[in-house]
Amino acid sequence: KILILDFGSQVTQLIARRVREAHVLSEVHPCDVSDEWVREYAADGHLKGVILSGSHASVYEETTDKAPQAVFDLGVPVLGICYGMQTMAHQLGGKVEGGHKREFGFASVRAHGHTALLKDIADFTTPEGHGMLNVWMSHGDKVTELPPGFKLMASTDSCPIAGMADEARRYYALQFHPEVTHTQQGKAILERFVLGICEARPDWVMRDHIAEAVAKIREQVGDEEVILGLSGGVDSSVAAALIHRAIGDQLTCVFVDHGLLRLNEGDMVMEMFEGKLHAKVIRVDASELFLGKLAGVSDPEAKRKIIGGEFVTVFKQEAAKLKAGDGGHKGATFLAQGTIYPDVIESGGAKSKKAVTIKSHHNVGGLPEQLGLKLLEPLRDLFKDEVRELGVALGLPPEMVYRHPFPGPGLGVRILGEVKKEYADLLRRADAIFIEELRNFKDDATGKSWYDLTSQAFTVFLPVKSVGVMGDGRTYDYVVALRAVQTSDFMTADWAELPYALLKKVSGRIINEVRGINRVTYDVSSKPPATIEWE
Ligand code: XMP
Repeated sequence: KILILDFGSQVTQLIARRVREAHVLSEVHPCDVSDEWVREYAADGHLKGVILSGSHASVYEETTDKAPQAVFDLGVPVLGICYGMQTMAHQLGGKVEGGHKREFGFASVRAHGHTALLKDIADFTTPEGHGMLNVWMSHGDKVTELPPGFKLMASTDSCPIAGMADEARRYYALQFHPEVTHTQQGKAILERFVLGICEARPDWVMRDHIAEAVAKIREQVGDEEVILGLSGGVDSSVAAALIHRAIGDQLTCVFVDHGLLRLNEGDMVMEMFEGKLHAKVIRVDASELFLGKLAGVSDPEAKRKIIGGEFVTVFKQEAAKLKAGDGGHKGATFLAQGTIYPDVIESGGAKSKKAVTIKSHHNVGGLPEQLGLKLLEPLRDLFKDEVRELGVALGLPPEMVYRHPFPGPGLGVRILGEVKKEYADLLRRADAIFIEELRNFKDDATGKSWYDLTSQAFTVFLPVKSVGVMGDGRTYDYVVALRAVQTSDFMTADWAELPYALLKKVSGRIINEVRGINRVTYDVSSKPPATIEWE
């Protein structure tokens, strides 16, 4: 395994992720662990290498954090990244100075000599035959003098020592960040370190993560009880499945059905978790409560606030009951949440307005403190695609795990204006047809379904009536809009160029099968200036 010592960089978990991508186990620990801890950690002989991360502080302020000196006595390869390089230089007898010129952003780095780390890895070669790397730099201080035994490995104009190596001791250091995707060869460099230099065996798979996570959860929870808010979304579902694997009946899931879910969604969640996994799930049917509160309200923000607020109220009531304990239960002491790593970064860094909205609903912020419960977040270190992979490894159906995102307020933001049960029922049926056909329809070129070729697709209910003709009669019914977008980050999005044949099939089926809808339109607006959801 690889030990990653964290000096507080925002991207430390990305290093861990790259090591996992190379199928090697990695563990992140704080940089201030003791020498003794390090020696003990390495004692079983499984440790193949150490990576020293960057630091948040190095860019903005002074820090005196050092790596435990024992790291350099273990005889395993060490890679220092950014601040990790500076501390390595400093601790091994080199010199580090406050940079006069702060580098932040892209840089072209020249690789010197043929170190085992960078040999034959380059984005392009100069006419003089120098291998060049396009990298992401972010630092203020820099190494100005190599420690004894080190040679120059890489340089840029403003940072003459952008990489250094002591190949005899297998110490390598890079001023730039190989873990971020902006560094095009970053993955290759980290793979080279882990597999080539550390000679770690690439035999780690997601299944191993389950065993590690299960052991951790058991240790953390002991014989106490846990509550989890299940929404049917990917993150809470995977968290539930994982925690259930670890502690079985010590977990109780609370599933608040606000009546604004998709067709059969509530039953499917119950069937999966209660039926198949035999987890304890309390389903709270709160649809009447929610619809009652929403009656007469047509302002989008007011609707969102009502749904979010009621959700928290209902969940809190159930959690309070479970906390109090009854019938042989001693009462829950933990609240589990499906927080994933991007959520962690988001809440630490600058929050966009949307991020706040998404979080306040999804991760029911502040609840653990209000309820006096401890927090259990077993997905905190994982990225979305890893969470999905983990879900499949835990036996959740791929259709569930690879589902398009669904907003917390559910159909509440897909029924324009006032929400009524009649509208929700019509919308659910129309939307189910759209999604079914997207899954059925394959793209000739790629063989993939249009569901997989779009990032998010759904139907919107428009509370206006239009005239139509059916058989010999005139109809005067509602209109729906189909929305399908392609995006990588949901911050910007293009409307998907769905095949006409698919749109035709969907429109025909909705109008024929859903009495009450007589017109289907397709939304051809990009984000920006439109948003993905209509409200
Ligand atoms: P917009 O409509 O802002 O949506 O382009 C971007 C993404 O965010 C989702 N979304 C939400 N998710 N709670 C959520 O959990 C919300 O209140 C919420 N509002 C929008 C939306 O479905 C899309 O994926």
